[in-house]
Amino acid sequence: NWTTTNVVEEQIALIREQVGTKRAICGLSGGVDSAVAAALVQKAIGSQLTCVYVDHGLMRQGETEQVEKDFVAATGVQLKVVDAEERFLTALAGVSDPEQKRKIIGREFIRVFEQAQAELVAEAGAAGEDVAFLVQGTLYPDVVESGGGTGTANIKSHHNVGGLPDDIEFQLVEPLRQLFKDEVRMVGQELGLPEEIVQRQPFPGPGLGIRIVGEVTKERLDLLRQADAIAREELTAAGLDRDIWQCPVVLLADVRSVGVQGDGRTYGHPIVLRPVSSEDAMTADWSRLPYETLAKISTRITNEVAEVNRVVLDVTSKPPGTIEWE
Ligand code: XMP
Repeated sequence: NWTTTNVVEEQIALIREQVGTKRAICGLSGGVDSAVAAALVQKAIGSQLTCVYVDHGLMRQGETEQVEKDFVAATGVQLKVVDAEERFLTALAGVSDPEQKRKIIGREFIRVFEQAQAELVAEAGAAGEDVAFLVQGTLYPDVVESGGGTGTANIKSHHNVGGLPDDIEFQLVEPLRQLFKDEVRMVGQELGLPEEIVQRQPFPGPGLGIRIVGEVTKERLDLLRQADAIAREELTAAGLDRDIWQCPVVLLADVRSVGVQGDGRTYGHPIVLRPVSSEDAMTADWSRLPYETLAKISTRITNEVAEVNRVVLDVTSKPPGTIEWE
């Protein structure tokens, strides 16, 4: 019979058997799947696991801290944080095209992660060959989608952990392969992960980099982070987190509009709210959020975020619009 306790116990036994006395690496993205996979493996093999978190500087407010503090506190996992903000921003400088941005972010991500892996292997010294396993938060729908392959298979690019370096052969540990998303959340809860991690809404791997229409700069990211934090805060306060699938907040950095604020005329940027409801992100409808909540978000963003003088609501379903703007 299926209970989360049974799943956890069964997987712990399987992980121990697979990994033995060797060591494993797990890339954390901040998302539910990698967090639960890591927590499960940590429970099974403890200090034989090291997690790697690449901070690309494109996360929302508080997300990196959530991994660094809350996740570590809840699991006791060994964590290597790579601060790569400058590297990503340098690589993204002058780039406005969405596909270009995605390619650059994906490429840099793989490079930084590979470098971290190589460092971990080097740090293990003569025992470097013991670092033989890579933990992946692959879910059942991912397995079905990719044709059910197993073993040292290539990692799907949407996992944002990239391919493996040529000279290191890892075997994959995929303890969530038989689970659906809601089951993964239950397992995460059982493992004592904080609610904010377990109930997290989807967030794209390229992060806020694809929510700035125009060039990505530190200033613009900070601005968007502020607006996004306000929107999330008000949606949570209104109790709407479970009603919406996700709500991208987008900065139209290449667009300016006239406003009147305080003593006079402003020439600022619009922020777009894109709340959607969905079952699987393949199709989506725009969420009919209560007007009071929208009003509160709009007032706060225009009052609190410098350079933003307009908040607009995206009322497009998917199709024809995608959920993200880029
Ligand atoms: P779209 O914009 O294609 O998004 O309607 C569908 C869902 O996928 C998320 N998304 C991504 N997730 N890496 C990810 O991990 C990506 O590059 C990526 N692009 C979009 C998006 O947030 C939505 O949930």
